[in-house]
Amino acid sequence: MIKKTRETFGSTFGVIAAAAGSAIGLGNIWKFPYITGEYGGAAFLVVYLIFIAAIGLPIMLAEFVVGRKGKRNAFGSFKRLVPNSWWRYIGYLGVASAFIILSYYGVVAGWALKYVVASATGILHNMSSGQILGYFREFTTSPFEPLIYQILFMFITGLVVIVGIKKGIEKYSKILMPLLLVIIIILDIRAVTLPGAGEGLKFLFYPDFSKLTSEGVLQALGHAFFSLSLGMGVLITYGSYVKRKNNLMKTASEVTIADTLIALLAGIAILPAVFAFGVEPGAGPGLVFATLPNVFQQMTGGMVFSVMFFVLLSIAALTSSISILEVAVAYFSEELKMKRKLATIMATILATLLGIICSLSFGILGDYKLFGKNFFDLLDFIAANVLMPLGGMFIALFVGWVFGKRRTKNELEYGGHINKLLLNGLIFLLRYVAPIAILIVFLNGIGFFEIVKNIWFKCNG
Ligand code: TRP
Repeated sequence: MIKKTRETFGSTFGVIAAAAGSAIGLGNIWKFPYITGEYGGAAFLVVYLIFIAAIGLPIMLAEFVVGRKGKRNAFGSFKRLVPNSWWRYIGYLGVASAFIILSYYGVVAGWALKYVVASATGILHNMSSGQILGYFREFTTSPFEPLIYQILFMFITGLVVIVGIKKGIEKYSKILMPLLLVIIIILDIRAVTLPGAGEGLKFLFYPDFSKLTSEGVLQALGHAFFSLSLGMGVLITYGSYVKRKNNLMKTASEVTIADTLIALLAGIAILPAVFAFGVEPGAGPGLVFATLPNVFQQMTGGMVFSVMFFVLLSIAALTSSISILEVAVAYFSEELKMKRKLATIMATILATLLGIICSLSFGILGDYKLFGKNFFDLLDFIAANVLMPLGGMFIALFVGWVFGKRRTKNELEYGGHINKLLLNGLIFLLRYVAPIAILIVFLNGIGFFEIVKNIWFKCNG
């Protein structure tokens, strides 16, 4: 049999740029700042950082270890490490969640592209806040225009992935991630120099423990997970392209730090500006597409900053979406033996089609609901609340119990030394702490505790 050499990342910086590119996404920019303020600022931050370090980082390492040792896609890596066992189906879970996330991610990323255009042409600049909200609603519910931008975004994602790891994903991540950092720093400087910026910084950093509810704690873990792109085979897939000379512990730590830092910088860019102009910070899409344009409009040089912001959002989305697409492409090409080109085209088209349904579910398909959710919300729910936690939990259990300490140690010692205490701590976290914590978040996410509470109240009058 001819053994084809598998592609690898060319440099250590390339690995970090690509993996951080995956982690740094829409979640960092529109979700993190808001939930931090909402659940008590620095109080929430402390909990978030603990989860990032104690659960996020170990699972990221576990994914890297499985990928680099398995040297295959998310499914194939398990298959090679433990032939004939059911663990390989965790890989399916990953590929399935990749399609789901990619489809709805592409829709929102399309909105970001649209807003680059809308900011640059100045349309948004002379509108009242009611008009801005109306513009957003009209755009997202219209049947055609959002599809054009979504398809354009998916096309760009496909173009990057089709050329491969080194010449595609790595090359563009190495350009786009530093650019993202520069843009966010410029926006930060603008935000903190606005008169009245202090309120926003206070909202973000002042510790208010009374706002840190149990829901907030669960949100912190859930978001730590989402933000690091865990539990769906992305880091297994990327890990499989990492060379042996790379120290995985160092890489994972750097990626985690980069992700957290950008989330904080996004908070510093957004919240002071929102407060300085006395606008209510909203959550999610509303914050970015309906609140921020109001802010930019009132700011000196707002048009330029507005364009920069939406370019930032588009870049963050692009480097994430290429990593999700790669999960599917690696699976198609290695397991189903497709040529990489064909695999990319197929996967892109499939995710785009699914995304079109998501996009239309804001407008003409809005009446079709399941469990009270439209198609977009349903996919988001399935991926973020069901598939990702399950994937992450199984990966932790797999490395903790099946792959085991000795082999993990071997893998982590390429390119470095890992001390015994750290290794034992890591295995302990993977075996017990992470699976239990994730299980709790999972049960909460699917509404299990609500049901139990209702039953309890019924039984006790
Ligand atoms: N981490 C991304 C963000 O913060 C979202 C995300 C979750 C993701 N899982 C992923 C991105 C998998 C790429 C691959 O927005």
